[in-house]
Amino acid sequence: MCGIVGYVGDRSALPVLLEGLKSLEYRGYDSAGIAMPARNGAPGLEVVRRAGRVDELVAAAQARELAATAANGQHAGIGHTRWATCGEPSEGNAHPHRDCTGNLAIVHNGIIENHLQLRQQLVAAGHTFSSATDSEVVAHLVEERLTAGADLLEAVRTAVGALHGSFAIVAIDARYPGVIVGARVDAPLVLGLGEGECFFASDVAPLLRYTRQVVWLADGEIAQLSRAGARIIGLDGAEHVPTSTEVAWDREAAEKAGFPDFMLKEIYEQPRTLRDTLRSRAEPSGELTLTELAISPAELAEVNKIFIVACGSSYHAGLVAKYAFERWARIPVEIDVASEFRYRDPVLDAKTLVVGISQSGETADTLAAIRYARTQGARTIVITNVVGSSLSREADAVLYTHAGPEIGVAATKTLSTQIAALWLLGLWFAEGTGAMEREAAAEVIRELWRCPELMEAFLDGPEGPAAIAGIAERFATAPGWLFIGRGVGFPLALEGALKLKEISYLHAEGFAAGEMKHGPIALIDKGTPVVAIATHSRVLGKLISNVEEARARGASVVAIAQQGDERVLEVAADVVAVPETAELLSPMLDLLPLQLLAYHVAKLRGCDPDRPRNLAKSVTVE
Ligand code: AGP
Repeated sequence: MCGIVGYVGDRSALPVLLEGLKSLEYRGYDSAGIAMPARNGAPGLEVVRRAGRVDELVAAAQARELAATAANGQHAGIGHTRWATCGEPSEGNAHPHRDCTGNLAIVHNGIIENHLQLRQQLVAAGHTFSSATDSEVVAHLVEERLTAGADLLEAVRTAVGALHGSFAIVAIDARYPGVIVGARVDAPLVLGLGEGECFFASDVAPLLRYTRQVVWLADGEIAQLSRAGARIIGLDGAEHVPTSTEVAWDREAAEKAGFPDFMLKEIYEQPRTLRDTLRSRAEPSGELTLTELAISPAELAEVNKIFIVACGSSYHAGLVAKYAFERWARIPVEIDVASEFRYRDPVLDAKTLVVGISQSGETADTLAAIRYARTQGARTIVITNVVGSSLSREADAVLYTHAGPEIGVAATKTLSTQIAALWLLGLWFAEGTGAMEREAAAEVIRELWRCPELMEAFLDGPEGPAAIAGIAERFATAPGWLFIGRGVGFPLALEGALKLKEISYLHAEGFAAGEMKHGPIALIDKGTPVVAIATHSRVLGKLISNVEEARARGASVVAIAQQGDERVLEVAADVVAVPETAELLSPMLDLLPLQLLAYHVAKLRGCDPDRPRNLAKSVTVE
């Protein structure tokens, strides 16, 4: 969703802001803008905004000769990429938004729920609005307080007190040179601390080229940044001592490393990121220690039901885990799309464990679901990739996936590492409750440690990726795709379809293969591509029957299967062979051809796989 950057220090602010916005592009956006104090100490602010890509903003800044102003005193500024929620995507609705004086500008990520009421009050008080956004009320609210004599920090603090909703805000005022102020309530905002310079950003990506020392603002904190450092206060005005941490991610990890796109790089990183997720938790010999969960075996034994809540690909990770949890730990697992969870009155109590999964750790619905679970007295565990993210701070315990920064909007390595983290959780549960013998769990862990090598064998071997590229070429113009699977292959069918539709804009649906006869089979026409997840499982025979039914109606069947599996070869026109592993672990291998297929089809169709239209990396509104 929206991205925020802010800078104050000795550098020229413009390149810091523009580079920062570029590194936030992956969050998804439709317009961008910056604000800095006017050149050479002139009054007011210089604001540049454009609908479209950051490149257009860069060109507009160059046209105004802003790039040549390094010595012109523009050493502070704020920038924003907007993903429209309230008001169409346009230059007029792009951030930063100014107050009536033109001295103050703000950027905002999130939703101001009471903006209509505030707008009415502000208009009645004589303010003039120039956009259709909810965000602009913030500029006028801060303006009111500055006019009444507050300084910028105090004005932002009290303005935040009048807002309902979820938001991160950063403000700059030409009358307060060398200072920027930001606030966080339920939307991400991180501070970067450098030598004689400070930064605001929506996540760490824009900070990595300057500093790794960061402070994760807590909800209700307001920070004033200057060359001298950060001053943080609470909503009540009390001083808070900033606690900085060092982020482990480096800049290189956030760059393409020779791959044409981040998505492809991230697909190929998966063997390594899987190892990183396993390392220090599961030994290749089979030992398992999840000390970060901080739940004793006695407490564990009390849990009688698990709920999994997540959205999109994270939801698919949860579905994969459900099969494993129930088979290994013999405990009932319910899984919910997070946006539905709290509105259906789920029955929760102290014996319920709710597991929230989110790569970003900021998904509004998943966050709300975990909060709701806590109000009902349930235990909560979060699986996320982002240290310090909102979700990581809401749960009783966190399992980090250690996948490194994922820049492509489509989840790839964050998904496979979520699945791995969930499997560890399931095995730990199964062992801790005695549902699974130590040696049986150790056997699974040893097999899981083989997976990175098997993944490398597929990705580095020429046949699999080449076969996928050829299939993509033949079907890139097919108007509709079906993905089918049974058992643990069913969530993979959903994921294969989601990946294809989100980055290639083709219509694709995933089904449990047994459901085909109940309706979807009517969609099959001559040549309709049907991708079947046909790796070894207890239901492979039944899946093959479903594939035959599809083929009999003209489908072009592409099967993901084990090398040389005669039964599959007989029914599928194309077979993509993946290495064999244990049935419940097979999603780790089956994911790879599905991800590559979506990637190649998107490229052939001229779509940008890293920045699909209409989508955001971090969905911070409901
Ligand atoms: C995945 O490719 C999608 N971009 C999307 O479905 C994503 O998984 C979903 O928005 C959930 O995000 P989260 O993991 O950050 O909560």
